[in-house]
Amino acid sequence: MCGIFGYTGRTQVLPILLEGLRALEYRGYDSAGIFIPGAGAFKEVGAVHNLINELPDDLTGTSGIGHMRWATHGKPTRKNAHPHRGAHGHVWVVHNGIVENYKALKARLEEEGHTFESETDTEVIAHLIEKEAGDACLTGEALARALSHVRGAYGIAVIDARCPDVLFAARWGSPITVGVGEEGMFVSSDPTALLPHTRSAVYLEDGEYAVLTPREYRIFTFDQQARAPVVSPLDWDPEDLKKEGYETYLLKEIMEGPEVLKNSVRGRLVPEEGRAVLGGIERFADELRALRHLTIVACGTAFYAGLYGKYLIEELTDIHVDVEAASEFRYRRMVHRPHSAVLAITQSGETADTLESVKEAKRKGFLTLGIVNVVGSSITRITDAGIYNHAGPEISVASTKAYLSQLEVLALLALFLARQREMGEAEGEVLAREMLALPEKVAAVLARREEVCALAARWKDARDFLFLARKGNVGVAYEGALKLKEITYVHAEGYAAGELKHGPLAMIDRHFPTIAVVLQDSVYEKNVSTLEEIKAREGPVIAVVTEGDTVVREIADAVVEVPAVSEHLSPMVSVVPLHLFAYYMGRARGLDVDRPRNLAKSVTVE
Ligand code: G6P
Repeated sequence: MCGIFGYTGRTQVLPILLEGLRALEYRGYDSAGIFIPGAGAFKEVGAVHNLINELPDDLTGTSGIGHMRWATHGKPTRKNAHPHRGAHGHVWVVHNGIVENYKALKARLEEEGHTFESETDTEVIAHLIEKEAGDACLTGEALARALSHVRGAYGIAVIDARCPDVLFAARWGSPITVGVGEEGMFVSSDPTALLPHTRSAVYLEDGEYAVLTPREYRIFTFDQQARAPVVSPLDWDPEDLKKEGYETYLLKEIMEGPEVLKNSVRGRLVPEEGRAVLGGIERFADELRALRHLTIVACGTAFYAGLYGKYLIEELTDIHVDVEAASEFRYRRMVHRPHSAVLAITQSGETADTLESVKEAKRKGFLTLGIVNVVGSSITRITDAGIYNHAGPEISVASTKAYLSQLEVLALLALFLARQREMGEAEGEVLAREMLALPEKVAAVLARREEVCALAARWKDARDFLFLARKGNVGVAYEGALKLKEITYVHAEGYAAGELKHGPLAMIDRHFPTIAVVLQDSVYEKNVSTLEEIKAREGPVIAVVTEGDTVVREIADAVVEVPAVSEHLSPMVSVVPLHLFAYYMGRARGLDVDRPRNLAKSVTVE
């Protein structure tokens, strides 16, 4: 989610670092910073050019590290910007990822007398590394010892100012690439940024670190085995590299689904206790225990995610949940009943209608909460508390990975609220373990994307689509229809399947296809009957079914199989073929799927 760049070599480092950081800006940014041994650390909020404006003219040095931050822990302030330093200012670290156990590590270090300057999880890494280095220059052994305490995901670059030519990098779960240049060695979280300097890259694997000096590099595993490096050529176009080999951002973001689900729950599930740990809202635990009414406000895709929140929270707790389009809610009478709260769901945290709804709800005295992807965005600043998605920047206008993470965070919230109420530990454990199994299931659906591609090609000229589902998947039907409209400009409508006979059935004929979610759950037979009604009118049917289903295969014109998944969590799996269908149909129609006409990523005006 953040960008890392580092260099040690024979030429001046400053222009190299700044160029590297600029190349990483596309991944999102809220602050930038550099450290050059002998010259010091410089940090600024906002884009790289803000940092450049603050730099003195006479910065010199031939090694350094830099960072573009996309905040996950702590607001986007200068204090929280990287690089972060150890207790004595010898060791400096830039980090991409999330340290799951940073609170425990920080508490332990504080007991030993360490003090911290920032709210970040990264600072504990710097303290740990410097502590392990002791009075001498940092070594690989000390680095590995320090990292053995860290749980979570990280890609880091590290410099010890006492031996300024040596640059370290390490990886566990977040990408790190070493660039092998003529004039020096580079490290980057993203190979794109290496392109101006070299076409030779070495990718670190999880559990490996690199030691770079101006003329050479060496790679070791954390248990000190030297690894023979494999040099890969960087022969992509820079634009393609940002898309990590995918032809569009949209496909890249859909394919990130499994990773996004992992990041959303990282450090937040304690399966053996059947609990969700949500640090962002913990301080309102008493209010949440007494909560009777929750109003979810959101726009577009986030609104459809909200429908899943209503379904699951009402299934698992006694809380009454309403979901309101923020554009409507802000102008309506808001009744503030005792024990009620308003929850805003928003990827950007900047959507004007959602923002104004929260402001109005605050004026009325509601407890206001947020599920927001962009740390430090307007809505995170005005809500009383919230939960971040940790989905990483979403570049494509149509939201897919953020939607998936919104569902996942809502499931976390539902578990949290349910465990404050009747739900027992064993039941909580089942749900938590099922949540942890979701990434694999989503990956299995993504592995079948060619099948969805073929279906999209087959129906690419259809002019209308109906999307049907029941219960928790109704929001998925709406989302499937919305995505198709956004990406292909084809008319589509989402309906609760039981409503078909109350109107939409009149439209069905052999030119009007239906996409239905028909999983083997408590409404399976009902959904099968709905498909029969459509087939009786010659309507084509594409069904998303549970693996091994033979009944629906007989009725439908085509099926897409998804792995069996519990009814409570199935929307996170069933939505994936619908996102893929919209994507491939948009491509088949020759459209710019990353930037649909007339739409904006973040609608900050009314
Ligand atoms: C715009 C975007 C949609 C998004 C909606 C809400 O309309 O085009 O993709 O779902 O805003 O955005 P938010 O940032 O609040 O989730």
